Order: sequence, then C-alpha cells, then structure tokens
Amino acid sequence: MAVRNASEGILSDDKAPQREELIGLLKKAYWMEIETVMSYLANSINPDGVRAQEIIESLEADIQEELGHAQQFASRIKELYGVVPGSLEFNAEQSYLQPPEHQTDIVHVIKGVIEAETGAIEHYNRIIEFTDGLDFVTQDMVIAILHDEEGHRRLFEGYLREYEVEGLA
Ligand SMILES: [Fe+2]
Ligand SMILES: [Fe+2]
Repeated sequence: MAVRNASEGILSDDKAPQREELIGLLKKAYWMEIETVMSYLANSINPDGVRAQEIIESLEADIQEELGHAQQFASRIKELYGVVPGSLEFNAEQSYLQPPEHQTDIVHVIKGVIEAETGAIEHYNRIIEFTDGLDFVTQDMVIAILHDEEGHRRLFEGYLREYEVEGLA
C-alpha cells in the first residue's frame, strides 16, 4: 500500500507551489546566515585597539549563534523536501561588513553589524508573514531566530550609542 501524504499543512500535495516559494525564502535566509558567519569571523579577528575587545568577544559569541541559525534553516529546507544548496550558489551581499581601512575603526564594524541584523530582521519578518496560517512550524522556528537577531541588533545599537555620546559616530 502506498503511503499517504498529509492532507493538511505545508507538506500536503496542494501546497506544493507555496512550499517551493517558502524554500526559496529559506535558502535566502540560509545564505544570509552563512555570510554573517564569514563577516563576523573576520571582524572578530581584525579589530585593533583597547576598545576593540568588547566587540571581538561579542562577535565571537554571535558566530556560533548565527551558525546555529544556518543549521536550523538548512534542516527546515530538507524537511520541506528541498535540497540545501551548494557553495557555488552563494552570492555575497554584505558590502557594508568588509574590513575597514583602519582596523581601529570600530564604529565601521558596529554599523556593519547593525545593517546585517536589520536585513535579517526584515527578511525574517517576511517569512513569518508568509508562513502565517500556512506553516506554523517554520513560523515558530523563525520567530525564535528573529528574537535572537533583535537582541543582537539592540546590543550593537547600545555600543554605537556610546560612540555617539562621545561624538565619535
Ligand atoms: Fe542569525
Ligand atoms: Fe544576528
């Protein structure tokens, strides 16, 4: 006897078109996380100066969190019958997180991190809206990841505020 597909939910046959679209959104999220890992890795090593240490430690911790997000997006792509893309499909977009001219330019790094987190927040809100009433499991997962990104953004906004108060940003 052939196995029967679920008749309700994102895995049902009649949801195939929406599932394809959702996999596309999840692949974009996956690449955003991977690129963030690359950018935070470089920016957790490059900065110089007495004030760089806080940023370095913060980014070191974030690398692991963002990698965990990438793993979650990848698993969900597979669960939805998609295939996690290979590296040749990757296109870099984070122009704002390239190494600054001077490695003591911590403000450049802080602003770049805020930009990356803002982009993630916007894209994940889009996925949460897309999945509403369609795929509660993906929605639940992305809400938790969005919470992490909002926390990251708020932390770096706080760092920036300190430089703003001193007229350095
Ligand atoms: Fe993330
Ligand atoms: Fe983040």
